[in-house]
Amino acid sequence: MGEGTIAEKNNVTWFKGLVSREDRERLHRHRGAVVWFTGLSASGKSTIAHRLEHVLHRMGCSTYVFDGDNVRHGLCADLGFSGDDRSENIRRIGEMVRLFVDAGIIAITAFISPFRSDRDRVRALVEPGRFFEVFVDCPLEVCAARDPKGIYVKAREGKIRNFTGISSPYEAPEAPELVVRSDRQTSEEAALSVVKLLEDAGILSTPAAGGPECPCSSSSPPVR
Ligand code: ADX
Repeated sequence: MGEGTIAEKNNVTWFKGLVSREDRERLHRHRGAVVWFTGLSASGKSTIAHRLEHVLHRMGCSTYVFDGDNVRHGLCADLGFSGDDRSENIRRIGEMVRLFVDAGIIAITAFISPFRSDRDRVRALVEPGRFFEVFVDCPLEVCAARDPKGIYVKAREGKIRNFTGISSPYEAPEAPELVVRSDRQTSEEAALSVVKLLEDAGILSTPAAGGPECPCSSSSPPVR
């Protein structure tokens, strides 16, 4: 078989719809984007992610939170915590959030995502200026002391293998869009700093009119 992507080999092409991302963004009155939280287990990613969603929702934004523990019940239920499985976990979520950006939604993710290369691969999938990596920085000892699920104790006893920060590495971001310190800031403060980041980047403003028209606003009769 010759060269080419799997999609090409399967004769799969990309179908471009009649409604564009810009049309959807005008409806939402903000742009699509990804806020990608990364950090150790119990660093506060989920708490801040849901707090952020609550603030944005009250501002009238269309949002969705992808949470590590939840996604592993369904979409990624077949994956464990080996390096390969974690990379596949992040790859699938990356493809998912890419679609959400196309839908004009602000996708918020809360995965440990310990490997820099995996996070960079997701960044590369999304249009520049729409991917916001937020490092939830919290000392390992503080996370281990919180230990809401009792898993740090199990990891230290050797009952959980490949545990991030104990027996598996965590590669901190080198140039994240934002760092929040969950041992020094409240989740509300951290969430508001992300809102400011999105505001400053122009994500929360309505895209300028004048782009491709939504067909439903034209005078032509609907296609049946
Ligand atoms: S990731 O590494 O693939 O990004 P993800 O965020 O989906 O991880 O899942 C992390 C959650 O899975 C943790 O908060 C913890 O509850 C649970 N978990 C179970 N085993 C491990 C492990 N070996 N390392 C880290 N987290 C684990």
